Amino acid sequence: DVLSRIPAPLLQWYGENARILPWRNEPSPYRVWISEIMLQQTRVTAVMPYYERFLHALPSPAELAAVPDEKLMKLWEGLGYYNRARNLKKAAQIIVEQWKGELPSSFDALLSLPGIGAYTAGAIASIAFGIPVPAVDGNVLRVVSRLRASKDDIADPKVKLRISEDIAAILPHGCAGDFNQAMMELGAVVCLPNGQPLCGKCPLASLCRAYAEGLTGDIPVKAAK
Ligand code: ADE
Repeated sequence: DVLSRIPAPLLQWYGENARILPWRNEPSPYRVWISEIMLQQTRVTAVMPYYERFLHALPSPAELAAVPDEKLMKLWEGLGYYNRARNLKKAAQIIVEQWKGELPSSFDALLSLPGIGAYTAGAIASIAFGIPVPAVDGNVLRVVSRLRASKDDIADPKVKLRISEDIAAILPHGCAGDFNQAMMELGAVVCLPNGQPLCGKCPLASLCRAYAEGLTGDIPVKAAK
């Protein structure tokens, strides 16, 4: 399968092209968690002005757990999807009560917290704790579907699960966090949606079946729900 050949060129490209982002400089579990929640429905450029301000006001789970709702909403105002902020506070309260104020370091414990699904648990576990688990978001589904020229419906949970398992099988141990972020980064800046990919800049173009077959505009397939 083409996936087994991507780690080396992908990691090389990421090493040379990764954007300098505030949560990458200092990937503590708390900082990575906040970044991944903010990035769930919001672009990197929109998150930037909120991120450091939020961390400055609420530098650890203890402060987040105790923040008055009004202050929390002020810090989140403009980012939208306010349930993300409410779940952050609920999760912080659990972290304080059950985990002595530090984020738990296992995928399953992270997954049990409010607002943390499989993607976010995988992102925190791999980026902040170095645990070799996948973090499959829409970017990753698009990259993998194009590499394989697969017309499987990426909205289908079975397809998503299968891709996660396939990524898990090729995750380079020792740099799973970088690998996961490199996949997201490739999807965010090169393997763009809507038939607009920048294949001339892609480190995986020579491995990509959709590129070879002129199918990047038709893939991924995402059936209406
Ligand atoms: N989108 C979500 N998480 C991200 C990350 N860690 N880096 C870049 N884009 C992202």
